[in-house]
Amino acid sequence: MTDVRPRAVIFDLDGVITDTAEQHYQGWQRLADEEGLPFDRTANEALRGLSRRESLLALLGDRQVDEPTLEAWMERKNRYYVDSLAGMTPDDALPGAVDLVDDAKRRGLKVAIGSSSKNAGLVLEKLQLTDRFDAVADGHSVERAKPAPDLFLEAARRLDVPPGQCVVVEDATSGVDAALAAGMVAVGVGPADRVGHATYRFDTPADIDLGVVLGEGPA
Ligand code: BG6
Ligand code: MG
Repeated sequence: MTDVRPRAVIFDLDGVITDTAEQHYQGWQRLADEEGLPFDRTANEALRGLSRRESLLALLGDRQVDEPTLEAWMERKNRYYVDSLAGMTPDDALPGAVDLVDDAKRRGLKVAIGSSSKNAGLVLEKLQLTDRFDAVADGHSVERAKPAPDLFLEAARRLDVPPGQCVVVEDATSGVDAALAAGMVAVGVGPADRVGHATYRFDTPADIDLGVVLGEGPA
C-alpha cells in the first residue's frame, strides 16, 4: 500500500492481458532454429518483456552480427509473430484480465496499457479492447525500453496521474524492475522467481485482488 490512494492502473499487455508471450517465444524459436542459434523455452524466460532489439541481442549472447542482419532477423521474427496473430479474437484475453480492468474502472481508477511492443495497437484491436483504456504507451512511445522506467512514466503522463499514484501489473522481471524504478506499486503476475520482487505477487491475472492492493474491500 502507498500513503496516497492510487489513481491509475497501468497494465502490461503481453502475458497480462493476453498470452502473446507464447507467440513471441514461438517467433524467436523459429528464427533461432533457422539460423542455428542455441535457444529454448528456458532461455526465453530472460527475454520476457524486453524490446524486440534487446530480445535479439539477448538471444545472440556473445555472437556478433552486423546491423543489416540484426534488422533482417528482427523483421523476420516480427513477421512470424504478426502472422501468428491472424486468428486472434476477444476470446484470447487471459481469464480474469478484462474483469480486472473493469474492476479498476469501477473503483474510479484510470487505466492504461504500458507495453514494450510495437504491435500493442494491433493486439488491442484484435481483442476489441482499444476503447477500454484511457491511454496506451507502447514500443513506439519511448526510446529506452523496460527495465528503464520511461514507458510507465510516459503512460502516467498520458493519464495525467503522478507516478507515485500508479499501480503497474506486470508478468516480466524487466517490467517489475521498470515499475519500481518509476516509483510505482508493482503487481507481479507469475512465479516468485520471476516477479517475486514486486510489491504484490499473484499467480495469474484471475487471482489479482485489487482490494488487497488498494487496501480496500470489494468495489
Ligand atoms: C513485450 C513482450 O511486450 O514486447 C516481448 O513481452 C516483446 O516479448 C516486446 O519482445 C516487443 O514486442 P514487438 O511486438 O515490438 O516485437
Ligand atoms: Mg509482459
